[in-house]
Amino acid sequence: MMTLSTILLFVHLIGLALGVGASTVKLVLLFKCKSDHDFVSVFLKVIRPVTKVIITGLILVTISGVCWIFYGYSFTPLLIVKVTLVGLIWILGPIIDNVIEPKYKKAAPLPGETGSYDFVRFQKMFLLLEMTATGLFYVILLIGVLL
Ligand code: HEM
Repeated sequence: MMTLSTILLFVHLIGLALGVGASTVKLVLLFKCKSDHDFVSVFLKVIRPVTKVIITGLILVTISGVCWIFYGYSFTPLLIVKVTLVGLIWILGPIIDNVIEPKYKKAAPLPGETGSYDFVRFQKMFLLLEMTATGLFYVILLIGVLL
């Protein structure tokens, strides 16, 4: 029997699969850029569609989560921690997409070139923020299972 709670769980699980999955793929591809600068131009071509999947996932988990609360799910301390961490991802995402990524793209080496000092610096920042955002996704996932 499809109840509202079942539908919300279905949407929540699709959202987390898209968000956690695409965020992990983006991080794996960024690590590949670190060891192979020729891969950077490929990475820059796929980054937009991958980011769109992450954002779609985040929107789905947030809407279904808010609906759960709206329909009476009690705000436990664990849920407050979880929602705060999700808020952090919503802040980190635009910083990565609109501040770090454009700088990384501008400094990116062409195929056959090695990265400049600036490029390596932005790559370190990019990796650090991506690892933080993806790590947060996994921590939130764990908290979700413990709820
Ligand atoms: C990155 C974002 C998120 C991830 C990865 C995530 C993950 C999860 C997981 C794995 C569960 C357990 C599902 C199950 O019982 O099988 C869950 C449940 C839940 N999540 Fe999330 N969640 C996220 C965002 C949110 C947000 C933003 C809210 C609230 C605004 C929220 C509220 C809830 C609630 C209330 C439950 C319990 C539902 C129930 O047991 O009926 N989640 N979440």
